[in-house]
Amino acid sequence: MYRRTKYDLKQELNLIKESGLFKDERIILSDQKANIEVSYPAGSKSKEVLNFCSNNYLGLANHPQIIDAAKKALDKYGFGLASVRFICGTQDIHKELEEKISNFYHTDDAILYSSCFDANGGLFESILGQDDVIITDELNHASIIDGIRLCKAKRFIYKHSDMKSLEQKLVMAREGMDIWEHTGLAHEPKPAKNIIIATDGVFSMDGDIANLKDIVELGKTYDAMVMVDDSHATGFFGKTGRGSVEYNDVLGEIDIITSTLGKAMGGASGGFTASKKEIIDMLRQRSRPYLFSNTLAPSIAGAAIAAFDLLDKSNDLRERLMDNTTHFRKKMKELGFDITESVHPITPVMFRKFDNDAKLAQTMAKELYSEGIYVVGFSFPVVPKGQARIRTQISAAHSRENIDKCIAAFEKVGKKLKVI
Ligand SMILES: Cc1ncc(COP(=O)(O)O)c(C=O)c1O
Repeated sequence: MYRRTKYDLKQELNLIKESGLFKDERIILSDQKANIEVSYPAGSKSKEVLNFCSNNYLGLANHPQIIDAAKKALDKYGFGLASVRFICGTQDIHKELEEKISNFYHTDDAILYSSCFDANGGLFESILGQDDVIITDELNHASIIDGIRLCKAKRFIYKHSDMKSLEQKLVMAREGMDIWEHTGLAHEPKPAKNIIIATDGVFSMDGDIANLKDIVELGKTYDAMVMVDDSHATGFFGKTGRGSVEYNDVLGEIDIITSTLGKAMGGASGGFTASKKEIIDMLRQRSRPYLFSNTLAPSIAGAAIAAFDLLDKSNDLRERLMDNTTHFRKKMKELGFDITESVHPITPVMFRKFDNDAKLAQTMAKELYSEGIYVVGFSFPVVPKGQARIRTQISAAHSRENIDKCIAAFEKVGKKLKVI
């Protein structure tokens, strides 16, 4: 009977609403780009706003060459495969895209998934077992957390980007100290067989970049592999867009890279793992989202190939994105906003100086929407208590005029709400 569950769920939903954390959907009536048409609250008269909260970093979501490539793949390969890869779902464009990705990241091979969430979900349990250890940054993405939960390996969490804390965990894993500490069971300390250090390349709530150089060094010292989720960097970060891995000058030195095609690389969906031959071979045998979920749609594979080709030929979009980011960060700081230190297009405007940080972030986002700027306020539990923020995201799709309009709106609303 649903009655009991319905009651419980309603109670819980009310609690979420009362605490101001209920997430409304805004309905977009246009394609994804800098200026979008939005109906909010859903069903109300739509209006045009400037979009400063999508992951459309390079503006490829509605790029004519990407759409054209998707259409061509649709015409040639059809709408879908109605199969998983290993039964009858592998087309030549899936292999072509995998080769492109492994060349791009200087790895032996790559494997496609329907999303990076699936890539992370299907990674750890396929290659590690109960004698192994995963050491994970405390701020890693939910999909890494869930992927680790599915795996029998032991999990150690290190403090965010804290190399001392990471080293401590590596020592514990290597020496087998306190591995069962949390269970209270009697035990023989047992050194780990295999160790993986797992980290986001760029952390999505702060836009800060993992210190991969030091992480790789620690990996070498303690004979641990390094896994990086480069979702917020693939295609646009680093000199030639090879992400946080290139930015940190460790291209070719990361054992496992996962990433998404659903952000800078066209923004539809799709993900991948790029790695050593044996790891990819094993993922093709064991990785559950790969074995038991449908093939990436051919139109997306075709469009992703075009996106990699486009970025190979020209640096224009990357340069525009970085110019826009530098300009926005500089001007916002000059106005007195509290911006976290980084060079990434994710630019969180922080409210940590204010007691009512969560409310202020929500109110400011609403007022900005009235000014034609679409941004979202984040507060606890999405970010730690007292760290509420508006996470702005800059894109190559923004013109300088768009960016300046956003800055002017922040200035106007910020002064009104006494944030600056
Ligand atoms: C760091 C990180 N990893 C993985 C994902 C999931 O990517 P996808 O949308 O391809 O599942 C995201 C998306 O929010 C992300 O930010």
